[in-house]
Amino acid sequence: LGNKLWGGRFSGSTDPIMEMLNASISYDQRLSEVDIQGSMAYAKALEKAGILSKTELEKILGGLGKISEEWSQGVFVLKQTDEDIHTANERRLKELIGDVAGKLHTGRSRNDQVVTDLKLFMKNSLSVISTHLLRLVETLVERAAVEIDVILPGYTHLQKAQPIRWSHFLLSHAVALTRDSERLGEVKRRINLDFASISLNSMDAVSERDFVVEFLSVATLLMIHLSKMAEDLIIYSTTEFGFLTLSDAYSTGSSLMPQKKNPDSLELIRSKAGRVFGRLAAILMVLKGLPSTYNKDLQEDKEAVFDVVDTLNAVLQVATGVISTLQINKESMERALSPEMLATDLALYLVRKGMPFRQAHVASGKAVQLAETKGVTINHLSLQDLQNISPLFGSDVAQVFSVVTSVEQYTAAGGTAKSSVTAQIEQLRELLKRL
Ligand code: ARG
Repeated sequence: LGNKLWGGRFSGSTDPIMEMLNASISYDQRLSEVDIQGSMAYAKALEKAGILSKTELEKILGGLGKISEEWSQGVFVLKQTDEDIHTANERRLKELIGDVAGKLHTGRSRNDQVVTDLKLFMKNSLSVISTHLLRLVETLVERAAVEIDVILPGYTHLQKAQPIRWSHFLLSHAVALTRDSERLGEVKRRINLDFASISLNSMDAVSERDFVVEFLSVATLLMIHLSKMAEDLIIYSTTEFGFLTLSDAYSTGSSLMPQKKNPDSLELIRSKAGRVFGRLAAILMVLKGLPSTYNKDLQEDKEAVFDVVDTLNAVLQVATGVISTLQINKESMERALSPEMLATDLALYLVRKGMPFRQAHVASGKAVQLAETKGVTINHLSLQDLQNISPLFGSDVAQVFSVVTSVEQYTAAGGTAKSSVTAQIEQLRELLKRL
């Protein structure tokens, strides 16, 4: 107990399993570097306040520098009594520079240290995550630019809806991810702001974990977007769809069935969304009903943050790899474009001839039904058949039955016409420069 930072008022020893439950050193040693940075800044403040002399400050800074080297060279030796990273660094400082090390903790608590450390750690981690995220967006955008002429079915309810450009699909995911990128930027800005100015209230400063909740929330939404993209691609990669093939680098085989090539990368991305949300839910549960200021419950925050940082970094890089290496099968996509997907276009044809859309919708629906009874596709109905449904049909109706004509109608902002998709690509490229 004599070795413990807080041992003075204790005479009995800690139960060994309690000691294990209490210790956070196994994971919070990841904060070693930021803990030293925080202590260096604090030591300078103590000198300014007249608590440390210039010589004492130099001794402390020198010792902390040495500890930082030990950590980075992997030679820092942990002791049984090192409860957490703050304890370990302070213990080592005393070994290196003697009793003056004990002055460093004047006026601060590990509770102050841990929140400072975590914020510094997150500031650095958020920059790395943002970089990976932007690479993914860029990969989607550049792929969209290259494959702009590819058309495939668009789906609602997983039922064929209307033809769309493959690029339009890719960009739909890119656009969602740009919002995540902005949100990550906001979390980072708020952490930065806290360092730019001091916290208004010490009781709040030491206990608020809003930045953890914000980060985990933003991460959860990002993962939900990635899981949606993963699910789309899993469906498109089945032999039943056959729209795309994942590269070997992001697939695995079956130990039983030799023919299988499984989209494990995408399934992992999908599942990690659940994992990240679980971390958010856990922290919210820990925070709920906590009394003011520091409580040991808050020790739970670090594993959540570390796990989500690691998960995002891995998942984002794998997603970028999957997108940049998958192969699309244009022929299968085209084959899936059944003429019935142009029923909306048939209605729009009548709208152009002056019929109100609601009536045109009914007329086109009748054409679909007639084609079904005749056992043909709607493009194979005769002009006479169509004119029996509405006299507004003319011989120019044949033009309707082209998927290119169909997608090219949608030139409004956000549409699937080539000009619209090109505009989206350009806007996203501009945005990427600013993000
Ligand atoms: N290891 C602790 C944590 O992660 C540091 C703060 C401990 N403070 C205390 N009074 N026990 O939250």
